[in-house]
Amino acid sequence: MSFDPERLAQPAIRRLRAYDPGHDLPRLRTRFGAVLAELGSNENALGPSPAALEAAHAALSETYRYPDPRCGALREALAQQHGVTPDQLVFGNGSHELLMQLAQIFAGADAAVMHAQFGFAVFPIAAAAAGAPAVCVPALPRTHPTAPLGHDLDAMADALREDVRLIYLANPNNPTGTWFTHAALEAFLQRVPRDTLVVVDEAYGEYMQAPGLDTAIALLDAHPNLIVTRSFSKAYALAGLRIGYLLAHASVAAVFERLRESFNINQVAQAAARAVLDDAAYLQSAIDINAAERARMERTLSERGFATLPSQTNFLLLDLGEDAQVLEQRLFDQAVIVRPMGGYGLPHTLRVSVGSRAENDRFLETL
Ligand SMILES: Cc1ncc(COP(=O)(O)O)c(C=O)c1O
Repeated sequence: MSFDPERLAQPAIRRLRAYDPGHDLPRLRTRFGAVLAELGSNENALGPSPAALEAAHAALSETYRYPDPRCGALREALAQQHGVTPDQLVFGNGSHELLMQLAQIFAGADAAVMHAQFGFAVFPIAAAAAGAPAVCVPALPRTHPTAPLGHDLDAMADALREDVRLIYLANPNNPTGTWFTHAALEAFLQRVPRDTLVVVDEAYGEYMQAPGLDTAIALLDAHPNLIVTRSFSKAYALAGLRIGYLLAHASVAAVFERLRESFNINQVAQAAARAVLDDAAYLQSAIDINAAERARMERTLSERGFATLPSQTNFLLLDLGEDAQVLEQRLFDQAVIVRPMGGYGLPHTLRVSVGSRAENDRFLETL
């Protein structure tokens, strides 16, 4: 028999389908040059804060040393910002890594994972990688007034079973852009047993502005089974440095630390993240520009008869009411990169990031 590594892999890995990161962008940058509109990955087109860039440059001279395994300076600053103790934080090479490892730690053949239909794609992948059964709860209907296709927290609470150990929620959610309120989360947590962990993925947390929408961090004290993940990739514009973190009860963080690779956060990322936290003006302008551009895109699209879902993020989900693949390909041919959502079971939709004003204009004109 020939050598077959597929056969040698663990059963869960054999069944696994990897996360799809989208097009080969380095190749497309060479092909299209400056006209390329990169609206497929929900990055912050403003570019990094000058303070973050300067700190990153300064940190380069220390790269012959291993980075601080505790992320000490960043840890202290974030603990203060969020009103938690430093031992409640765990850092990840992007929050994606943390989401995957949470399942590795807490889920398995006898410990199921629950997530919502149209929730972030990493959730079912994390469950599958851990060999855990996944309970996928149907999303709210398209006609829902505030969160069409969003998480149905009541249905998720109703669907709880004894073996569910880990629940993933995204607030706001990718790819729908929808959200649930703080009060709804509080009511949900009341219905979840203590031994079931609830992860609230707040990768887009800095963009929250809607009434009643707020970070779950304030609920950590009352709910030791709550875990909140955050990212420096979106509003803080450090996607390329790969850094995210979670906030949890200190005892949960301590369990997590056993799996974390000690030096998973390089020192350039630590320095840039620490610096951008002090650049409040940068964050505010990133939030304001995003809100204004998103509103402009929503308005223009609506005037042209395109339906979008309500969003509290840096992207919009367009519902075309017909197969979106053809339009995505035609935009691609014109160097406008957006993300088709067939993989999410939403073949009629396209996800479009809020880019720079020029990129957004290119998208709208090309459309
Ligand atoms: C909902 C959500 N969570 C987590 C992530 C992962 O972000 P990162 O690993 O860059 O922190 C993303 C990235 O797009 C996301 O959309």
